[in-house]
This record gives sequence, C-alpha cells and structure tokens, in this order.
Amino acid sequence: MNDLKWWQKAVFYQIYPRSFADGNGDGIGDVQGMIAKLDYLKELGIDALWLSPHYPSPQADCGYDVSDYCAVAPEYGTLAEFETFLAEAHQRGLRVILDMVFNHTSDEHAWFLESKSSRDNPKRNWYIWRDPAPDGGPPNNWESTFTGSAWEYDETTGQYYYHYFLKEQPDLNWRNPEVKEAMWDAVRFWLDLGIDGFRLDAIGTIYEDPALPDQTSGMTLLDLYQAYQAAQEDGEREKLATFGKVWRQIFEHQVGREDEMHPLMQELRTVINEYPDRMLVAEDSDIAYYGDGDNEMHLVFNFPLMRTERLTPAHIRQNQEQRLSALPAGAWPCNTLGNHDSTRVYTHFADGEHDAQLARLSLALMLTLRGTPFLYNGEEIGMTDLLLNELGQFRDTLALLQYQMLVELGGTPPEQAFEHIRRMTRDKCRTPLHWANAPQAGFSPADVETWLPVNPNYAAGVNVAEQLDNPDSMLNFYRRMLWMRKKTPALLAGDYQPLHEEAVDYLAFLRRADEQTCLVVLNFSAHAHTLTFELAAEHAQLIFSSRERAAEMDNLSAVEIAPFEIYLAALQ
Ligand code: NOJ
Repeated sequence: MNDLKWWQKAVFYQIYPRSFADGNGDGIGDVQGMIAKLDYLKELGIDALWLSPHYPSPQADCGYDVSDYCAVAPEYGTLAEFETFLAEAHQRGLRVILDMVFNHTSDEHAWFLESKSSRDNPKRNWYIWRDPAPDGGPPNNWESTFTGSAWEYDETTGQYYYHYFLKEQPDLNWRNPEVKEAMWDAVRFWLDLGIDGFRLDAIGTIYEDPALPDQTSGMTLLDLYQAYQAAQEDGEREKLATFGKVWRQIFEHQVGREDEMHPLMQELRTVINEYPDRMLVAEDSDIAYYGDGDNEMHLVFNFPLMRTERLTPAHIRQNQEQRLSALPAGAWPCNTLGNHDSTRVYTHFADGEHDAQLARLSLALMLTLRGTPFLYNGEEIGMTDLLLNELGQFRDTLALLQYQMLVELGGTPPEQAFEHIRRMTRDKCRTPLHWANAPQAGFSPADVETWLPVNPNYAAGVNVAEQLDNPDSMLNFYRRMLWMRKKTPALLAGDYQPLHEEAVDYLAFLRRADEQTCLVVLNFSAHAHTLTFELAAEHAQLIFSSRERAAEMDNLSAVEIAPFEIYLAALQ
C-alpha cells in the first residue's frame, strides 16, 4: 500500500465552479467561494479536487469554450486569488487538477480571431479551414455532435471551419506542430503554478479523417434523437443502449484515430513527466489510453459502469470482470457514477421507493471497488436533478439546439420537444449547491438571481448545514465512509475477487491486500439474506455497516445481511 501514488489512494471530488459557492454575491460560483469551502471538503474526507473549466470563456458551452488558457475567468476571480486557492488547498493536503480542453477553443480566443482574419494569417492553419464544395455548400456531410453541420462558413475569407461541438468551439488543427507547442505551453503554465494534474476533455475528437470522406451510415443526428425520444416514451429502455452504436456510425470519420492519438498522448505524458508526481485522467473510457500502463494516461474513466439504467449486481460484476481483465499491467482503474454531463447519481439510480438507500449503495460501490473514485459536487447531500420549467431558464446551449432541431427540422410539437430537452439537458445536474436552508440555498450570500435556478428541495433537508447536524444524514454517511476508506488498506490497495457470482440481489467480493483482506457485501435489494462464505478464514471483524449490528464479529458460515445493507468486514 505504501507504494501507491497519491492519485491511486485519493478520492476525487469534481467542483463545477459556477455552481459550487458564490463568494461575492453575483449569483455565480467563484474562487473565493471555493476557498471558503476547503475546510468543508477536507473534513468530508476528500483528497483531491477536479475543477471544471475555470478559464475566461464566453460560456457558449458553460466554460468548455476557452478564450484564454492561461488565465482565470473574471467572474470567478483573479489569477492571484486562484493561486491563494491552490496554496490553501495544498496546505490542507488537498490536490487540485484542472480541466484541459484540447480539441477546440472558443471562437473568441485570440488564436481563432487571428486565424479567421485572413487566409494568409500565420495562424490560419491553427484551425481546420476548407474550401466550400463545388455547389458552395459545406466540404462534406459531417454533423456537429451538438446538432447541425460541423462546418461554419466564414464570409470574410470565403472558407468553412470545422467544429465537432458548437460553432463557437472551432476545432484546433493538431497536425500543426505550433498548436501542439502552444498547448504544451499552457499545460506547463499551470504545472509551474503547482497544479497536480489534468482531466482531459473530449480527447477522442482531436483528430478527424483528413480526407474528409462523407459519412455513409444513412442516419442523421435528427433520426437518432427522434428514435431515442420514441424509445423513451415507449419505455423501451433496452433499446436506448443500442443508440451508442448508431452514434458511432454517424461520427465514424470524426472521432477515434488511435494511430495519431496515442503518439500525441505519449508526447503529453513526457511533458507531464517533467514535473514530479502529476497525473492525467482522460474523459474517455477506452482502455487503450492507458498506453502500456505507464506512458499515456494515469487514469481512464470506467464510464461503462455508470451507463446503465439500474446498478444491478450482475451489471457491476460483468463490468468489473471485463474492465479489470482488460487493463494493461500497472494500469490503475478509475470509477465514477456521475458528473456535470450526466443525470445526478441520486436521480439516476433511484427506484422511487428506496432512493436514499440506493444512493448510499452507489457511494459504497465507488469507495469499495478497486481503483480511484470520482465523486460529483452535491452528491454528498443527495442533490437530485432539477427539471427546468421554461426555455428562458436553460443555460445549456446543447439543449436549446436540440429543441430547435426537433421543432424546426423534425416537426415535433413544441411541448413534446420541451419535455424531451428538460430531461436531456445537462442543466439539470448543474444547479447551485445547497449550503443551507436559507435563501438561494445559502449558495449566494445576497438576494440575487442565481445563474441557474436553485432546486427547491434545499428546504426539505437537502442542504449541507442541516445535514451536518443530523448524524443519520447522507452527508454524515459520506463522511463516515470516506474516513473509513482511508483507514482500510484493503480498500485502497487490495485486488478484487468476486464471490457468490450468481447472486441477483447483492454483490459480494473480497479486496485482498498484504495487510488485510476485506469482505464487502452490498445488498441492492429489499430482501434480508443469511450468507455463507466458504473462505480460508472462519470469522470476519466488522469494519463498517450501514446499520447497527448485534455483534462486531461474524461467523462466515452465517452472515446476516439486512435489506440494502452495506457490510464490510476484515477476514480473521
Ligand atoms: C465534454 C465536457 O464534459 C462537456 O461538458 C463539453 O460540452 C464537451 N466535452 C465539449 O468540450
């Protein structure tokens, strides 16, 4: 266990800066707000923070459209304040990683403004410019994953530029060595400041097929959304999973390109290696990004685990079996169940009846599986998705574009399209964090309108202040589990060995480390069980349970597990 690096032992917590804490009362989260909450995070038992983009940005895509990679968004604070934040975090033993957006910049980035100023500007070739097709239309039929053509015409210079995401997010041309050097400089800028690593945004989209072949699947994003909408309405949940395949066909020439990606990631790794003890985590689930286990990413998210309607023991077992057996030697797993692009964990895995127990099981799963867990801010108090009521409240441009596409191109009735986007939008999981049962949920100190509405359930106990005072709250449960994990070597370092592989209701496994072997049972059902474990040991000493247990020691021939119980014990 002592050989583990900090990022192998750490529990990461994703801060969405705009929604975390508003220090200056303008309705938007900021650096001062984050500084004020560092003690809270430390006491919660968090070890490392991932900040979603904190750079200057016109906010066309909530910060993922960066207009300056070496500065802080003025509405969040100054670089000096950010340095204070970093120093204060480090002082408390909290590491900090940043979001790095490589694929594209904002269309207001100085590089793009220069690039589009004339065809012979030295930065013209920093982006992907192409002549119109003979009919004057876009160079090919590629779509943007955020709807519409992937090509935007520029009147001044008479060419189109390529954008995989919004037209306000032009793709950089990574085949130009100057682009690479400029980005490595940005990376070094933050590493020099003392940042501990990066989460890499959308790396799979960095290169596209230079021959620009038309996509020939015969499907468009509109077809896909309509089919998706229909399946959702019909409750054909199994079908939803197949849409990923269609999506990959639509974008086949625009994503992937492993032959170029891996050398690029290896080059980035050498930059990171110039600094001691830094790390990279890829926003991608492709195990290939671990490289040989030590020459690309330190961590790659296990997204397939969260991409399910229900967290069943069978799904988890199958996921672990596939994932762990596919990792190259030396590669370290990384698990998550939610982030700023997904449904909130509490909402996602709820069954309408045992939601709080299931949310606790989700955390228990994150903290007991082998690998580094990433949690998302607000999860610890059981924040839920908020469905917005009016188009005017939306800040997620993607949702608004989907609405437009469904109504204008697809002929979907507006009310139906609205119902669709309020469920799909990423705004639902990005609402301000609830710090207290107070106006604005205590997010903003002043009586201002927050940038996204506050979820009214802050007044029904979903807030930090009230939960801190309640020993049985979700927040105190998170705290107990997080601190328990730190003291349990088998959970940090142990291997994963599934037990009772046929069990439908519960998941049982061992985590075996040199110092300790830990038995984990997570009962995802409302049924009690008496379980027999035939292991080398006969007894197990209780480490943690989500309920009061009669005894501290169990005989492994008959371990009583209550409905939805989380049970951890050390083999004796
Ligand atoms: C992935 C980010 O998580 C998402 O929020 C963003 O819209 C896209 N990448 C584009 O940067």
